[in-house]
Amino acid sequence: MGVALGLSFAAQAEMMIGFSQIGSESGWRTSETASIKAEAEKRGIDLKFSDAQQKQENQIKAVRSFIAQGVDGILLAPVVETGWDQVLKEAKDAGIPVVLVDRGVDASEDLYLTKVASDFVVEGALAAAWLAAETNGVCDVVELQGTVGSSAANDRKEGFESVVSNFPAINIIRSQSGDFTRSGGKEVMESFLKAENGGANICAVYAHNDDMALGAVQAIKEAGLNPGEDMLIVSIDAVPDIFKAMADGDTNATIELNPHLGAPSFDAIKAAKAGEEVPKWIKANGPLFLPDTAAEEYKMRSK
Ligand code: AHR
Repeated sequence: MGVALGLSFAAQAEMMIGFSQIGSESGWRTSETASIKAEAEKRGIDLKFSDAQQKQENQIKAVRSFIAQGVDGILLAPVVETGWDQVLKEAKDAGIPVVLVDRGVDASEDLYLTKVASDFVVEGALAAAWLAAETNGVCDVVELQGTVGSSAANDRKEGFESVVSNFPAINIIRSQSGDFTRSGGKEVMESFLKAENGGANICAVYAHNDDMALGAVQAIKEAGLNPGEDMLIVSIDAVPDIFKAMADGDTNATIELNPHLGAPSFDAIKAAKAGEEVPKWIKANGPLFLPDTAAEEYKMRSK
């Protein structure tokens, strides 16, 4: 009976889609995975999920296996920007549309259907604009970068630098990757504090994601300083835990990254199958949140 039902589900499934996810390095990533799986289930899509555990080689293997299974489309969240040309070409030759979800690649646009993602350069610029206003353009900043080689880290760095370059008294005094993880953020922040003789001169922390900011909060507290007061903290994602930290006065601003990327990605594949035009970039940018609404946001988002 169970087998019969399984077979009939496969036969009736609207589409079979492969999803190569990066891993589960952050709270945001976990929400994105859950949201895409839930959206697939809601639509009756047979989703083949593969967790790459942060390795590009695993993603390339997954994409090849999806091609061999004859999926209707592929969602690819690329861990790094470069090295995708060959496998994207293989998908294209097999007539399988690939949607880049969340992160971008450094490859010709005709190798994929579309990118469903935020503009990370704008996120970095927004963080810097907030910081410049908050500090009157005078601040020594330390930067916690995301995964080396990822579009999220490259573009958030570029956007931030493009704005602070207008303020001669804002200096990025240290910058290193914490790999988008809470433990990485804590470890790198500890090394920054040590290198800066305790950190009394550090005016702000710019973290490429909330998890690293939360790790930095721990490191700053353990060093006997008050995060959010002695040092401003601005980060990106807007996960529930950062709203709790903002409500507690430990961090100062976050920029929302929408994790609900399944619906526009599946719509794009469906549209392409129907022969409709699909734009090359479906943008999903979010606003900046401040402590004034943090308690309320935390209540809503942690349900
Ligand atoms: O690519 C988006 C980034 O990846 C998110 O900001 C971060 O939390 C995640 O790991």
